[in-house]
Amino acid sequence: MTIRNIIRMGHPSLRQQAQPVTPQMFGAAELTQLVKDMVETLHDCGGIGLAAPQIDVSLRVAIIDIPGGPSRYGEIAPMPLTTFINPKIEILDPTTAGHFEGCLSVPGLRGFVERAQHIQVSYTTIAGTPAQITLNGFWATVFQHEFDHLDGILYVDRMNDTRQLMFEEEYSQFGSAEA
Ligand code: NI
Repeated sequence: MTIRNIIRMGHPSLRQQAQPVTPQMFGAAELTQLVKDMVETLHDCGGIGLAAPQIDVSLRVAIIDIPGGPSRYGEIAPMPLTTFINPKIEILDPTTAGHFEGCLSVPGLRGFVERAQHIQVSYTTIAGTPAQITLNGFWATVFQHEFDHLDGILYVDRMNDTRQLMFEEEYSQFGSAEA
């Protein structure tokens, strides 16, 4: 396994539409290695989600691993390490709520983004099996953030009010969970 370099905002690869994983790629060493590297990279950074475009791989692959408990995002429920391949989102309830988001490709900053809080995700597992999961609240926000990376979108693009973009230190001092 290898810790991969995370590219940052301004790198053109973060703005591309990522390519679907093809049926031929499932079970192949390349995809297995990619996911292993993503997990190692995510754990090395202490992040909770990572999308393949963030390590400059244009594939529709994202991982989420939320340890849960008290965190820089407040008290959150744990979500076990999950690999989403070629995910699709269905919004089950358009009502939104906001969270201060961070991104490994936008280091040092937090920004308030409102997103739907009740979604259903259809995806393929690393084993090539179709799966579905319903995500609520903060989990729904995290997933939509990672999903956006597959479409070349960063959370800052989703902000309604750039006055709610803060450095982490100032966010700790002056920010609140809800803007
Ligand atoms: Ni991100």
